[in-house]
Amino acid sequence: MNSKVIIALDFNSLDEVLNFVANIQPDQCRLKVGKELFTAYGPNIVRELHQRGFEVFLDLKFHDIPTTVYKAIRVAADLGVWMVNVHASGGREMLKAARQAINDSINKPLLIAVTILTSLDDATVFDVYSNSVTEQVLYLSKLSYESGVDGVVCSAHEVGLIKSLINSNFIAVTPGIRLSNEKSDDQTRIMTPSAALDAGADYLVIGRPITQSNHPKELLS
Ligand code: C5P
Repeated sequence: MNSKVIIALDFNSLDEVLNFVANIQPDQCRLKVGKELFTAYGPNIVRELHQRGFEVFLDLKFHDIPTTVYKAIRVAADLGVWMVNVHASGGREMLKAARQAINDSINKPLLIAVTILTSLDDATVFDVYSNSVTEQVLYLSKLSYESGVDGVVCSAHEVGLIKSLINSNFIAVTPGIRLSNEKSDDQTRIMTPSAALDAGADYLVIGRPITQSNHPKELLS
């Protein structure tokens, strides 16, 4: 599958999800199941999407003690998902436990660590970490790479530095994608799809610009 687009299915009703996916094809994009949908429908929503031929990114951003994360990732891997994620700030032992969980599983999803959420701006990140966004994203990316994680979630603004300073094969998954001249909602570190791809992003996570569009299929072509 060549598409770099991952659609964030941030809906709260099963009907809305199924109506949306009925209009798109599995070769056009992958689908992201996040906290809202998973809390409402659990593993069955993942099975529904698999039955329709879609690959799924289970975006539950695990952040807990290493044993709990190990067990949660084992269950996620057994569901057959394509990608799972954890928070890099969970620390080295937690990241290694997540890696181990995938090594011990038959199905091996890509393991991605969230660095700094794309909704956070410099002032907020400084308030929490006493560090700039760029420094903190790089620090957490390096920690993730050293712990055996396959890649990171970051904004497209940080991709170039991660690829050049850490490893060009380290996967960059970028949310905060906005089509030109549209509202940014609660995202602050945003970029257009073509600029994000030019910056080296491996996968673009796109939610509201596509899910709230009247022409989602056209936007994917
Ligand atoms: O609607 P929008 O395009 O902003 O959706 C972005 C999606 O990516 C949301 O589901 C959000 O939870 C997710 N995400 C993010 N920033 C991260 C990790 C995930 O926006 N760092």
